[in-house]
Amino acid sequence: MSRRSLISISDLDRSEIARILRVSNRFAEVMTRDIKKVPTLRGRTVINLFLEPSTRTSTSFELAGKRLSADVINVKGSGSSIEKGETLKDTVITLGSYAPDVLVIRHASVGACQLAARHTDAAVVNAGDGKHEHPTQTLLDLYTIEREVGPLDGLHIAFVGDVAHSRVARSGIRGFQAMGTRVTLIAPPTLIPRDAEDALGVAASTEIRDVADADVVYVLRMQLERMGPGGFVPSLREYAATYGIGHARLRPGQRVMHAGPINRGVEITGELADDPATLIERQAANGMIVRLAVLYDLLAEPAEAAASAAPLGVVAA
Ligand code: CP
Repeated sequence: MSRRSLISISDLDRSEIARILRVSNRFAEVMTRDIKKVPTLRGRTVINLFLEPSTRTSTSFELAGKRLSADVINVKGSGSSIEKGETLKDTVITLGSYAPDVLVIRHASVGACQLAARHTDAAVVNAGDGKHEHPTQTLLDLYTIEREVGPLDGLHIAFVGDVAHSRVARSGIRGFQAMGTRVTLIAPPTLIPRDAEDALGVAASTEIRDVADADVVYVLRMQLERMGPGGFVPSLREYAATYGIGHARLRPGQRVMHAGPINRGVEITGELADDPATLIERQAANGMIVRLAVLYDLLAEPAEAAASAAPLGVVAA
């Protein structure tokens, strides 16, 4: 029987997102212990299939699986039979023959995870598919704001920059709306989806000064690898001057996020990126915590997952 998967943030309703954030809090406590490993997923197998570059998501999923005591296998495009022309379908069928419980997939193509889910009994977790979705990024962003800023309900977040190519924004808009957060998109006209207001139910603006209204300014990476020749802005220098976020564009108290990797001096100034008041490092650290909770939520026995107050025992040395 196919397991539950996490392909879109819309696979989770508000109460399910809240449950994962609660479980993340428990894992945050476990990660303060001397022994940071729990036996919860002993005997389970997690395969991380990363066919597009990644540092944060791949490392944090690998660590999360290992800290839950699962067997973790990492497959990258480079060095795998994908280089010999094997299709995603055949790769997934082949990996399925090792009976994994979870396939974590990153791929450059929109819809790759849906395709994979049709050819495996494993739970599929979308670790980013093209410009489509990145649901675990949204979960870690929600978790970070709840811990570092405050309740999500009633907060105002502005996504600034390359919305058009951003899976972080696409999942984020839905996830933040589900939790009662007001969302505004701020970008040049070429980088904001047409009819964003009607289709996505958000406010949209091409005026950078509108960042002043937001509690949290979420800076988006210029996804140069998805833009192709021709470009969406006259030049990166002009983009940085018009839409780049630095201290001068912020008012006191505003918090700044960025999923990473950052383009220093393009969408964010180096000085702001290095400012410890931004949440960028917290996002990276919380990525591992939240991915522990996601794997736990997908794989722990229902009774165990439901008992969210149950202690997480450490692995015997
Ligand atoms: N935020 C994010 O997905 O980073 P990586 O591409 O390094 O995984």
